[in-house]
Amino acid sequence: MNAPSHLNAEPILDARDVSKSVRGPEGQLDILRGVSLAVREGESFAIVGASGSGKTTLLGLLAGLDTPSAGSVRLDGHALEALDEEARADVRRRLVGFVFQSFHLLPALRAEENVMLPLELEGRSDARERARAALDAVGLTPRRRHYPAQLSGGEQQRVAIARAFVHGPRLLFADEPTGNLDQRTGQHVADLLFALNRDRQTTLVLVTHDPKLAARCTRQVELQQGSVLRTGAERAVSA
Ligand SMILES: Nc1ncnc2c1ncn2[C@@H]1O[C@H](COP(=O)(O)OP(=O)(O)O)[C@@H](O)[C@H]1O
Ligand SMILES: [Mg+2]
Repeated sequence: MNAPSHLNAEPILDARDVSKSVRGPEGQLDILRGVSLAVREGESFAIVGASGSGKTTLLGLLAGLDTPSAGSVRLDGHALEALDEEARADVRRRLVGFVFQSFHLLPALRAEENVMLPLELEGRSDARERARAALDAVGLTPRRRHYPAQLSGGEQQRVAIARAFVHGPRLLFADEPTGNLDQRTGQHVADLLFALNRDRQTTLVLVTHDPKLAARCTRQVELQQGSVLRTGAERAVSA
């Protein structure tokens, strides 16, 4: 029997020996110490670990929002550390969507306008049409004219998810996307992320405190004080 195709593919995300240090009031602080991991296209990958273990810092480096002090991050074959900020921003725009714990919507823009924004920045003429389709996919057509303050937390996060995938990214990064939501709403938001992973083959890289959410991923890695403590066994990608 042939192995599933994703097992043969080059990783879409490949981090080697990634370290991040910052200068603090008490000297150098080593936030990440030689983290290596590889994620294949179509996987769902969870990063877990105690608060302060370096999860958010790692996610930012993997998504090209920040640069490592040492080591390499390759995103779809692009070595991010070899690119200048502008070229890195270009890779991000083309390949990456990002969902934050605290939604990060622009309060002065309606839901639909928040979702249109990344497309308008690219100068696309079909921004409104695509934003409406993305909001429809997260079940928010009836709320598209609302401002963020007029939406519940779960609705705001669904708008943020629509904004993160409206440009069709190959990878979706999410930092504790259900962390500010009650359990039921969090479940709905998580279902949307896994539906994108399943239906569009969008690779999902997720930071979470929730063991149930991590267990839904094909693989997980646990950080402890900036190092990989363990890598979970791989589950087959469900069809
Ligand atoms: N820019 C920074 N300057 C100084 N310390 C930082 C910075 N970013 C993160 N840290 C510290 O690094 C550690 C890891 O942070 P973080 O990546 O946010 O962890 P997590 O997301 O796992 O809670 C924490 O102790 C945090 O205070
Ligand atoms: Mg964090």
